[in-house]
Amino acid sequence: MKISIVGTGYVGLVTGTCFADTGINVTCVDIDEKKIKNLENGIIPIYEPGLDQMVLKNVEKERLHFTTSLKESMEHAEAIFIAVGTPPGEDGSADLSHVLEVARQIGRHMNHYVVVVTKSTVPIGTAKKVKAAIQDELEKRGAELEFDVASNPEFLKEGNAIEDFLKPDRIVIGTESEKAEKLMNRLYKPFVLNGHPILFMDIPSAEMTKYAANAMLATKISFMNDIANLCEIVGADVTNVRRGIGSDTRIGNKFIYAGAGYGGSCFPKDVKAIIKTAQLNNYNLRILEAVENVNDDQKKVLIKKIKQHFPDIKGKTFAMWGLSFKPHTDDMREAPSVVIANALTELGAKVKAYDPVAMEEAKHELGDSIEYGKDQYDVLIEADALILITEWPEFRVPNYKVMDKLMNNKVVFDGRNIYEPEEMKEFGYTYYSIGRPS
Ligand code: UGA
Repeated sequence: MKISIVGTGYVGLVTGTCFADTGINVTCVDIDEKKIKNLENGIIPIYEPGLDQMVLKNVEKERLHFTTSLKESMEHAEAIFIAVGTPPGEDGSADLSHVLEVARQIGRHMNHYVVVVTKSTVPIGTAKKVKAAIQDELEKRGAELEFDVASNPEFLKEGNAIEDFLKPDRIVIGTESEKAEKLMNRLYKPFVLNGHPILFMDIPSAEMTKYAANAMLATKISFMNDIANLCEIVGADVTNVRRGIGSDTRIGNKFIYAGAGYGGSCFPKDVKAIIKTAQLNNYNLRILEAVENVNDDQKKVLIKKIKQHFPDIKGKTFAMWGLSFKPHTDDMREAPSVVIANALTELGAKVKAYDPVAMEEAKHELGDSIEYGKDQYDVLIEADALILITEWPEFRVPNYKVMDKLMNNKVVFDGRNIYEPEEMKEFGYTYYSIGRPS
């Protein structure tokens, strides 16, 4: 079997590589020549644990290929996955120009039956537009060729993408024909061995499922952050409340960790996009509007605490542990660290940060407005306080003796609740966290 994946960003590359690993012949396409050259040599443009080895292995086995020619990739391909970017436009809705341009090119070059699958996160109704664009190009050529469209949203988490692809909780596929369903079933069969299902449904429902899933997860987080803020006021501890409610199987114990707010390339963008879709259809998604507002405020909660502790911030030095929006990624998009670092430097403070992998990416966002340390202890030298923003494993059990020697003050602001208030007290630290008594 042969397939083509258009767009070698995060989603396209993981998808193509994981399919190739099952023995399928995969060609990944991108317009960026340098990216394609690098990929052929196993140099991947993103940080994703395990992906580089998997790319190399499948390139060596000659079942993973890279090209800049969509036309070439389509030869004998039974399915074409569109995994190009859908950046948010000015008004928050997804920009579909790349997706539809790929669809038009497919229409121009198609010469046999193919299933065209949208993998990018796209607004409800996009598969229909993809179909119309292909049809339009076929008509221009006077070609009468059969094809199908399908929607197959991804649920990969950055940092865990390969595992998520190989062992998915579920695979969602929207189709409109039995022929397409059969083909998609064949493709995904290797990943359902552990009994997790392929859920076939109509196309609009598949498109909606993607947004509803991310919006639900974002809602859980904003809900817990809101409750955490109230916990602080009434003297409750949100980590106890989390355990208390999470053990109710109807609620579940995942994704209910209060913190410095959600970030990344997905939740903020997708919550905005679904709100926009609703507005365009004269409906207000009131809950999600609140979810977004709570999250914007949550990114500033640590700043408020810092200001309360240091009424005069000017001239103070803050050590920052973690910059990426979450651990195991170098992704800085919508990271709370950016909001916090900018606020502190605007108030005249000095920020010295360390992140195990995101420092280069952070430089694009923050430039030289902050300093970058060579390790987690280096940034503590003469720091007036430590701010923990991303819960990388290496920050979890710090060497307090070393910390004591380096820091000016023993003050910690923990944006992810990774330390125990009792322990911090024992070591003599003034400790602030989220939704817990300080
Ligand atoms: C998210 C979804 O989890 C994936 O299923 C989806 O495929 C992906 O978006 C996407 O649409 O492409 P990702 O953005 O990689 O994946 O990140 P998550 O691990 O979901 O974390 C998102 C944010 O929520 C992070 O900032 C994290 O710190 C925060 N979070 C997560 C919390 O604040 N509390 C929690 O309990 C869990």
